[in-house]
Amino acid sequence: MNNNMDYVLDVKNLSTSFISDRKEIRIVKNVSLRLRRGTTLAVVGESGCGKSVTVHSIVKLMPKNAKVSADHVIYRSAKDGKEYRLDQMEPFGTEMRKLRGAEIGMVFQDPMSSLNPVYKVGDQVAEGLIQHTGMSKAEAQKQVLDMFRKLGIPDPESRISDFPHQFSGGMKQRVVIAIAMICNPDIIIADEPTTALDVTIQAQIMELMKSLQVNDHKSIILITHNMGLVAEMADEVCVMYMGRVMEFGSLEDIFENPSHPYTQALLRSVPVLGLAEGQELGTIPGITPNPADLGPGCEFADRCPFCQDRCRQKDIPRFEVSPGHYVRCLKFDSFQEVD
Ligand SMILES: Nc1ncnc2c1ncn2[C@@H]1O[C@H](COP(=O)(O)OP(=O)(O)O)[C@@H](O)[C@H]1O
Ligand SMILES: [Mg+2]
Repeated sequence: MNNNMDYVLDVKNLSTSFISDRKEIRIVKNVSLRLRRGTTLAVVGESGCGKSVTVHSIVKLMPKNAKVSADHVIYRSAKDGKEYRLDQMEPFGTEMRKLRGAEIGMVFQDPMSSLNPVYKVGDQVAEGLIQHTGMSKAEAQKQVLDMFRKLGIPDPESRISDFPHQFSGGMKQRVVIAIAMICNPDIIIADEPTTALDVTIQAQIMELMKSLQVNDHKSIILITHNMGLVAEMADEVCVMYMGRVMEFGSLEDIFENPSHPYTQALLRSVPVLGLAEGQELGTIPGITPNPADLGPGCEFADRCPFCQDRCRQKDIPRFEVSPGHYVRCLKFDSFQEVD
């Protein structure tokens, strides 16, 4: 396998802005990230920094007032060995719909937004299978039962005929994971999948996701603002602030050699690392600016203890401080600059 094939998803310079009141506001700025096959990439950062907009832009589920551009967004399918340029596809064309359902599964924060209250859960899970494979309803139903068993939904034979409101929050989220998983996708994008759940259930769902990644060799993008989860789940970490990837590296790079002042501040805001579930980001001195009010230069400048005049002049490039470890900060301008 050559090096490139290791990456199931390769995003280069993805930018998204929204047009409102005839003004264009840049929300995601030149985001580059790669998801290595069979691993978990955590995307972490405070609320509002553009995590959801980034993944929605990748899978092209964006509202009409959004403008998305990228050098490339490449998906490499293990199923047919082909490369797909997602950035060049029609958002709701046949190809993109097929990839979204069958190869890239999605789990969002609020399970109710992904479930239809008036359909039986079993039918909702079966729907994707029937649509993407053309299999019979009876066959699909059998696979749904197997999936429910695998995901630890008790008494699946009777539960498939229930409606969403008959499920607890944690069980609903398992149903959403079943929908995401049923066509056996390569990638699962989980956007704060446990934020709406209580801590014990969070831990169970995360264990489930980890087992899918390890046993079924799934590649996962996990969006979270919970550093405890990052420490438990991630192989690589992408730290975002105000639409920028400030730092990208392996779990060790980020936790043992955090280099961007923002990453350092994030880690300081977590009292003890690597243990408790449910450990949220604490507060970092200063306030998150309004994206419309940002001046030139580093987005973190106003809150950064190391800020100098030159930090406020122009976009800060990425520097590769060690192989695969990128930092967007002028403190590292003696290292190789990458685009
Ligand atoms: N449809 C939209 N129109 C205008 N602005 C939006 C839209 N969706 C999100 N935003 C803005 O984009 C920024 C990033 O949002 P989001 O990606 O949801 O953050 P998070 O990191 O919490 O997932 C926020 O400032 C949000 O207000
Ligand atoms: Mg979000």
